[in-house]
Amino acid sequence: MVKKVSVIGAGNVGATAAQRLAEKELCDVVLVDIVEGVPQGKALDLAEAAPIEKHDAHLVGANAYEATAGSDVVIITAGIPRKPGMSRDDLLNTNAGIMKSVTEQVAKYSPDACLIIVSNPLDAMCHVAHEVSGFPKNRVMGMAGVLDSARFRAFISMELSVSVENIHACVLGGHGDTMVPLPRYSTVAGIPITELLPPERIEELVKRTRNGGAEIVSLLKTGSAYYAPASAAVEMAESILKDKKKILPCAVLLEGEYGIKGLFIGVPVKLGKNGVEEILEIALTNEEDEALKKSAAAVQSLVDVLKKK
Ligand code: APR
Repeated sequence: MVKKVSVIGAGNVGATAAQRLAEKELCDVVLVDIVEGVPQGKALDLAEAAPIEKHDAHLVGANAYEATAGSDVVIITAGIPRKPGMSRDDLLNTNAGIMKSVTEQVAKYSPDACLIIVSNPLDAMCHVAHEVSGFPKNRVMGMAGVLDSARFRAFISMELSVSVENIHACVLGGHGDTMVPLPRYSTVAGIPITELLPPERIEELVKRTRNGGAEIVSLLKTGSAYYAPASAAVEMAESILKDKKKILPCAVLLEGEYGIKGLFIGVPVKLGKNGVEEILEIALTNEEDEALKKSAAAVQSLVDVLKKK
């Protein structure tokens, strides 16, 4: 393949992303993990599926970063899940440490890559990756809005029995309870859902979207969602690799847009070969703007915890 993507963290999200990248024949894939044998084993397993799936992407697994050299895009999923007895701040600091060590290596071997951050807490991890890599802000972005809006789209499709292909949705803000789904900008074949559904049904779908991650966790019992998160990260990577210039909601560093400064937060952006090529500022009602500011405050409080360290 002409393009190369490294996926750091060969767990559920990372391995599924590697599979989707290869099967869409978008690029060669390097899978990296700290656990010996796991990235090698999963890469080999995926390579052995290639003759059946009919793709010629090369897949390699590694524990060191030499193999990632010259990647066009790096998807970072490395991290640990919250363990019993662990506070949110403990998790934040542990994953920030992992993000720091991973980003140092990634930046060393792929100084021109675009970084797609997936590890949680997402918006705070983007800050770490941006600071540690020293990359310009257009090459560091977080995967949250694509997943959150895909969940919203899936719920709208289930509600109206309409093809998911007809549905667009827009979700702004941080990746958490304070995310801001925007029904006015969510459409079915171009028709805003506010014209198709009563407000109380929309509110139910909005609530389910906000709770989307937790709903999966409570069903799986161990572990969190990974099929849709992997699909979302790969959609972002594809838009960059093919210079498609798709408009997707991503966590990016705002510097005054939406009245927010110095924070990574989810807004619609254009993704092309240069990464984040444009930040789109859409008009918000007072209520929507307030919800976005509240979400920004929640992200800020996590970033403040990191700064205290
Ligand atoms: N370097 C490389 N890999 C690491 C490191 C490290 N320093 N620390 C942990 N890992 C690896 C783990 O060994 C594991 O294989 O990261 C992988 C994480 O995989 P899972 O535990 O299966 O987690 P997953 O479901 O893939 O989620 C990854 O994405 O959606 C978010 O909240 C989720 O932060 C989590 C991340």
